[in-house]
Order: sequence, then C-alpha cells, then structure tokens
Amino acid sequence: MSVRVQDHYGSADIVERILAAAAQPVVEGAPISAEMLFPFDQLHGRELVATKDHAAKLNPAADTHLLDVGSGIGGPARYFANVFGCRVTGIDVTPEFVAAATDLTRRTELAEKVDFVEGNAVKMPFKSATFDHAYCFYVGMNLPDKPSVIRECFRVLKPGGNLLWTEVTSNSGDPYYPLPWARDAAGSHVGTSEKLLDHIREAGFELLSVDDETDAHVELARRIKAAGFVPTEDQRQANEVVLGNDFVERRMNYIRSLSGGALASTVIFGQKGKGEAGR
Ligand SMILES: C[S@@+](CC[C@H](N)C(=O)[O-])C[C@H]1O[C@@H](n2cnc3c(N)ncnc32)[C@H](O)[C@@H]1O
Repeated sequence: MSVRVQDHYGSADIVERILAAAAQPVVEGAPISAEMLFPFDQLHGRELVATKDHAAKLNPAADTHLLDVGSGIGGPARYFANVFGCRVTGIDVTPEFVAAATDLTRRTELAEKVDFVEGNAVKMPFKSATFDHAYCFYVGMNLPDKPSVIRECFRVLKPGGNLLWTEVTSNSGDPYYPLPWARDAAGSHVGTSEKLLDHIREAGFELLSVDDETDAHVELARRIKAAGFVPTEDQRQANEVVLGNDFVERRMNYIRSLSGGALASTVIFGQKGKGEAGR
C-alpha cells in the first residue's frame, strides 16, 4: 500500500524525544550545541560519517548560500553552517520535520544562517539562480518524479554551482522490506544509477564524479556489529528516536540489501556550467 511521504516520516514530539535522549541534560531556554544533536539528526545511512564525507566534497566557502533538498530535521544543514560558516536553506515536504528543523536550529542559535521552508521539491518557491551550491542527501528514493526535482535544482543554482546528490540505487534482485525510506515496494522509488545519471545530464549538469559507496556502508555496519553494539530498550539507536521503533529492522534490511547486491549507494557530483546563465 502506498503511503504519503509525509505520513511515512512525520510524527509528533520529535524535538522532545531527541532532547530526552540527548547525552547531556537540556535546560529549557538554554542554547544547545549543534554537535549534541548530530547523533540524532543525520537521517541517512552512515549518519554523521556520511555527512562529513559528502560535505568535504562540496567544501563550500563561508560566504556561499546552499540549498538542502529534502532537509529532514535539519542535521546536514546545521552541520554545513557550523563547520563551514555558510548559509543554508532547506526545503522539505514533511511538516513535522520542517517544524522540528526550525525549532532545533533556533535552539542551536544557528537561525541567522539556517532556515527551512515546507514544500515539494518538484516545484521550489525560489527564484532562478539563487543558490551557490545544492545538495540532496538520500531523498531520491522517495521521489516518483526525479527529473522534475533535478531540473528545479538546475534552475535555482547560479552558473558554476555544484550539485551533490546521494541516493540509494537499484542493482539486481529485490531488496528486503521494510526499508528506512519505505515500508514496502509501493512507497520506494529506487532506480538504477544509470537512469539517475541520465536525469542529471538531461537537466543540463556536467558530471564531475560518480562514486559507489556501498562498501563503506556495509563495512561500517560490520564494524559496529563486531564491536558488540546491540541496541536495547535503554540504548536506542539514534535514528530510531526520530524514525520509529522498527528502525533497527529497517536499517538491518538496508544493509542486507546492500551486501546482497540488490541495492547500492551512489554519490553524484555535478556542476551547472558557468555559461548556463540563461537557464
Ligand atoms: C531519508 S530522509 C533524508 C533527510 C535529510 N536529507 C538527511 O539526510 O538528514 C528523506 C527526506 O526527504 C523528504 N522528501 C521526500 N520527498 C520530498 C519531496 N518531494 N520534496 C521535499 N522533500 C521530500 C522527506 O520528508 C525526508 O525528510
């Protein structure tokens, strides 16, 4: 049965759950550090490790303005602002995520640099050539119309702007369900990396690099397992706090699907050419 993206991700009291699970007690009204939230707010495989890797690739200057497509509860946006000092605007279709992203950003005193709008990335409420760079971390699996979203990224980027797009792609055979982004096949829009690359080229981007980081996901999961990390009721896995009680099973299915060859994790780096001023 197909479930709306907003209903798959959204739930009540996200901020309260995170603050209750945080390592240090939170005093209401007192600021908190962005770092304290990082275990909970990176809603993708390899969490903060992946954000660090991908952010280093984009390596934005402090005076740039980034677009975060499918910004979740704002973890990657706060990471970029915190580490690189740049501005970030996020867009996300899930209202509870946008509200949590805004609240957590205010609490971390990053609201002057980071803001969020609720909206569907197939039609973004931004003028053309607004952003210096854009990134989209693990959202494509929820996008039935990827070409429109990628074309919108192209439109709102300034000429010379980079796009960093990370997505789970399909290989051979069926994955195990439920998965982190969909509880069944009807809600999953995973396609091949070749098709995704076609969409990116067709939107007008030049391809700078394409990487398969499947092994990095599988290896990290193996190391965590070897270290004896078995979550119990008291030590819930970070993403479970935000994404629900069955998240441990969903993440396990993701790793099984990657290591079995049904899925892959693909990182695409593209650029809107400097001569693309008119588009
Ligand atoms: C797996 S989460 C990733 C969140 C964030 N990028 C991160 O890495 O922490 C996928 C996100 O994409 C958002 N999303 C899915 N479809 C969208 C759409 N059409 N427009 C905007 N956001 C969308 C969801 O609401 C969710 O926040």
